[in-house]
Amino acid sequence: MTRARYQFPKDFLWGTATASHQVEGGNTNNDWWHWEQQADRILHGHRSNEACGWWQGKWTEDLDRAQETYQNSHRLSIEWSRIEPHPAVWDETALERYRGMLQGMLDRGIEPMVTLVHFSHPQWFIEKGGWLLDQSVELFERYVRKSVVALGDLVKKWVTINEPNVYIYSGFVEGAFPPGLTDLRKVPIVTRNLLKAHAVAYEAIHEILPEAQVGLAHHYRSFVPADSGNILDRTVTSFRHRAFNNVFPEALRTGKMKMLHWRESLPEIVGTQDFFGLNYYTRETVDVDISKPGQILRTGDYPEGADVSPTGFIANVPEGFWEALQWAHDDDLPIYITENGVEDTDDHIRSRFLAGHIRELWRAANFNWKIKGYYHWTLVDNFEWERGWTQRFGLWGLDPKTQARKKRPTADFYAEICKMNGLSSEVVAQYAPEILDQIFPPRRSDDLGA
Ligand code: BGC
Repeated sequence: MTRARYQFPKDFLWGTATASHQVEGGNTNNDWWHWEQQADRILHGHRSNEACGWWQGKWTEDLDRAQETYQNSHRLSIEWSRIEPHPAVWDETALERYRGMLQGMLDRGIEPMVTLVHFSHPQWFIEKGGWLLDQSVELFERYVRKSVVALGDLVKKWVTINEPNVYIYSGFVEGAFPPGLTDLRKVPIVTRNLLKAHAVAYEAIHEILPEAQVGLAHHYRSFVPADSGNILDRTVTSFRHRAFNNVFPEALRTGKMKMLHWRESLPEIVGTQDFFGLNYYTRETVDVDISKPGQILRTGDYPEGADVSPTGFIANVPEGFWEALQWAHDDDLPIYITENGVEDTDDHIRSRFLAGHIRELWRAANFNWKIKGYYHWTLVDNFEWERGWTQRFGLWGLDPKTQARKKRPTADFYAEICKMNGLSSEVVAQYAPEILDQIFPPRRSDDLGA
């Protein structure tokens, strides 16, 4: 067997990522809670309920788990609806509770990265019109300022908004997230307001904390034509790539928002990222069926023979991650992988998924690209939005009824990676032997059994 190690740069951050609504429980004052009460919104009528019990204090034991497995950073989000339960009414006890969590991380040698909005919003904000409202930008800024003043001494790294493209697609095109619209005309308006909100938050955070590092978590989905000889497949692939992946980074780079027929100049948003947050999960194939033109935007299929997760949600395609890294590198900013992971209740593919993706990440770091950290999604199984509890992304399994946690083997694999700040052939041989030769190709002498 080849003995080798892919070593990561010094001071690399290794952690997991979570989001408030998915782990805290009892977030009764936000749009998702209201959404969950409506019939047929969430698979099997599941509800977030107590989620992972973090608001009731379970974060302490989960952070112990993170610390014991050598993680040195954690990405979490704070819940706007708790901090500002009514317009301009602040809940200082909620902010105190977050201070406790953040201090708890620092005490464990875990550096926090805080996301200000991860899909959930105060119900009052949504009732006013949410991100369709021009005023949303100042409402967001007010919340950001309050939170950053209250928590800023404990946090250097801030993510303004999580995956605006996923939020817009799911909430305004597909209708699977609140507000549940399927109205393309709304898309440019929400896009513009989210871009402006990000930029305004960037400036506000820097005004309060000049040393802060501020970014946005971009979601990259790799699209490939099902048949590369088919011009329709190729055209739609390129359209989807531009519409889904490129609008946000391009607007932040050029100050020009190009969305469907909409063109808008936003010079004030240029240069408002100190780092590039990259979330990557999967690649999909685009197979256009001309008899169903309405389905051009529907999510597609996976490459032939793909290694697919149990519910068919994610295909394990590390090459797509490499493509995502190259794409992110175009901005020449420091890059944090703000999410990457797979749903896998029985932990059958998670270890090889992790090994394959970490190997691609190392390739990028080895080119001296500014790869600074990796946050696996996620620490403990959590509430997976419209898919409820049907998908399990955790390094630890969770029984939401009893709140019992159970470690999955990949948690130990990831611990080895975090501990050695790298990936060695020995640990791949132990946890993902089926892809050892792919990750560490044998030398000729190994082939000969020497
Ligand atoms: C989201 C997470 C979500 C994960 C897996 C990402 O798009 O940011 O909140 O849980 O995907 O579905």
